[in-house]
Amino acid sequence: MKGWGYDFGYRPGSGGEGPILMGTGPTGLIDAREVSVAVKVPHQPEPLMVVDKVSFLVQPGVSYAVLGRSGAGKTSLLSVLGLLNADYTGKLMVDGVDAASLSDRALARLRAGALGFVFQSYSLIPHLNALNNVLVPCAAAGLRRSVAVKQAKQALADVGLGDRLGAMPVQLSGGEQQRVAIARALVNHPRVVLADEPTGALDIDTGASVMGLLIERVKKAGIALVVVTHDRQVASMCDMHYIMDRGGLIQDTSPQVWQRPRRAATAEEVGVA
Ligand SMILES: Nc1ncnc2c1ncn2[C@@H]1O[C@H](COP(=O)(O)OP(=O)(O)OP(=O)(O)O)[C@@H](O)[C@H]1O
Ligand SMILES: [Mg+2]
Repeated sequence: MKGWGYDFGYRPGSGGEGPILMGTGPTGLIDAREVSVAVKVPHQPEPLMVVDKVSFLVQPGVSYAVLGRSGAGKTSLLSVLGLLNADYTGKLMVDGVDAASLSDRALARLRAGALGFVFQSYSLIPHLNALNNVLVPCAAAGLRRSVAVKQAKQALADVGLGDRLGAMPVQLSGGEQQRVAIARALVNHPRVVLADEPTGALDIDTGASVMGLLIERVKKAGIALVVVTHDRQVASMCDMHYIMDRGGLIQDTSPQVWQRPRRAATAEEVGVA
């Protein structure tokens, strides 16, 4: 497409369509009903249910933490919710639209316009500078370049990197790269951000400040957040808590578990003083 002038392999969806405008669906932003993902395992007669009849409602402006041990199916669930894996059973509505009814192209546009992603490994494109990395989803969503550049600069300024537009990923620290990834996730003003262990590659202090920034940005913009994490401190910053185990998802409504201090209880606290 003419006018972008960036060689990042993505181009705006097509001429003249403009960005996707989302209405507020009656069923929540993401409404998964008994969604399952089965994978075939060699030498096993039955498929493995990596996501097993999960029902999950994502409401506007609410943050959700999903915890669970390695292999529990967290990334697999996020892939389905994020329209990255269409190989599921059950019903998945995104902003009132049945995802199964959409073509690949419509899915890609919905994904780029309505959803933002943050991954553990930043997944910035190494040969693009910070600004051009943040522009990638704008192109996929069909935004005009002039609008996209304005939004991308603002998104980078919002994460404190307004003066690093030209920096290449290799010139940025891990925390800075993850801030670029957050700017990229937020640049299109998505309705939902899906984050898969966004602090997993960072040291504790940097992770906490990056997570604090992500929560602050999504709260400020009224965006919903689904964050997969191993870190209870990270989870404690979220409104609702879920645990995934062997493909199943259950809500944890015992907030004291998430607010437990990171130290051994004193003898007094456990009642043996
Ligand atoms: N395409 C696939 N083929 C075979 N097995 C798969 C496939 N995708 C996922 N799995 C298996 O499904 C299970 C869940 O994987 P998933 O990556 O979703 O776990 P996770 O909870 O994100 O783990 P981690 O915390 O280590 O990232 C694992 O046992 C994994 O090996
Ligand atoms: Mg995972």
